[in-house]
Amino acid sequence: MSNAELSLLNGISQRAQRLDESPIRSIANYGMGKNDVTPLWFGEASSATPDFICQAASESLSRYETKYTPNTGLPELCQAIAHYQNNLFGSHFAPENVSITVSGTNAVMIAAQSCLNPADKVVVIEPLFPTLAAIPEILGCQVIRVALKTKGKTFYLDTEELFSSLHGAQALIINSPSNPTGWVASKELLTEILKFCRQRGIWIISDEVYSRHIFDSEAAPSFCELVSEYDRVIICNSFSKAWAMTGWRLGWLNIPKALIPTVRKLTEFNVSCASAFSQAGGLAAIEQGEDFVQSSVAALKKSRDCMLQFLGDLPNTTLYEMKATFYGFLKIDGLGYDSQPYLREMIDKAKVGVAPGEAFGVSGAGHIRICHATQLPLLKPALERVREFILNVKPF
Ligand SMILES: Cc1ncc(COP(=O)(O)O)c(C=O)c1O
Repeated sequence: MSNAELSLLNGISQRAQRLDESPIRSIANYGMGKNDVTPLWFGEASSATPDFICQAASESLSRYETKYTPNTGLPELCQAIAHYQNNLFGSHFAPENVSITVSGTNAVMIAAQSCLNPADKVVVIEPLFPTLAAIPEILGCQVIRVALKTKGKTFYLDTEELFSSLHGAQALIINSPSNPTGWVASKELLTEILKFCRQRGIWIISDEVYSRHIFDSEAAPSFCELVSEYDRVIICNSFSKAWAMTGWRLGWLNIPKALIPTVRKLTEFNVSCASAFSQAGGLAAIEQGEDFVQSSVAALKKSRDCMLQFLGDLPNTTLYEMKATFYGFLKIDGLGYDSQPYLREMIDKAKVGVAPGEAFGVSGAGHIRICHATQLPLLKPALERVREFILNVKPF
């Protein structure tokens, strides 16, 4: 890098300077473009968005719906989401409790900007989707990380530790079902957390983007079932995962009505609004997408079982139970904090790319995350090769 570039970079904000490059990106950059590599590194289904959703968006475009929409989204989409959630969770959301965002990531950013001040203490639960810690860090908050504990093949949250970390906190950011661990908070746990935070005026930002990706029920336990208009709870959701719409950049928030003006202004100054044709696709997804959600969860159950078959019994490893999401989180004994050399070797020898566990925080080190949302004819041989690789190549 030239001196002039270095001097320019010295001028960028200290918060931006402190952000780390994603180790998932680094490994993907190494593997992308190499022949015959099966990519299981990103959290994305290999299937395309269903046709009926694409069709709805292209009809919207053919009607030239190319203008700004209201900040909080098209009223008919907010209404459809409230109706969908009320059916699923028995909640009582009005359309005004829903605000459309440009993705789940943008939903978390707007939620965080709504309730966080610089220097606030924010508690997150690790291992975690890196964005959930990066957003409060960008906002200048002090991020405290509470690690999930393990017992055998199960992750669990030590509530005593969580509650003592929450002393003096402004907010808790929680993600259940969790990327990368597949941990699912029970309804009892969510109730206990809500009670604790309610009594102390602590905000809860709940990332529920995997709420439909659960294998033993229709939806994972959700704050939607528990909140009232007066709770400091903001729920973040996305079209990316349940309807295979990662590239559409569409999500939503559930907010108390009192927060509408705040969320409206923050949306205006971040992105103004989501595009009208994406929202038309989203409306089709919500209104006609139930069969797609159910058939993709049934397919994911098969790919989850395939992962269990190939990686469930390897010596010196632990594959944690996979009750939800579309990830396997595998602990490999001897794998250190920097798993990149090992994972690059896996790409070269086994022709499979997976995500390094350290991307999800210190407590994720020593693990790998494998996304199994891929067609079985591709997934099966890939997992077979990962199995052979782990059996034959010791971590270095
Ligand atoms: C836990 C979690 N939250 C949010 C997101 C962001 O989703 P979106 O594509 O809607 O920004 C992801 C994406 O992987 C995720 O895993």
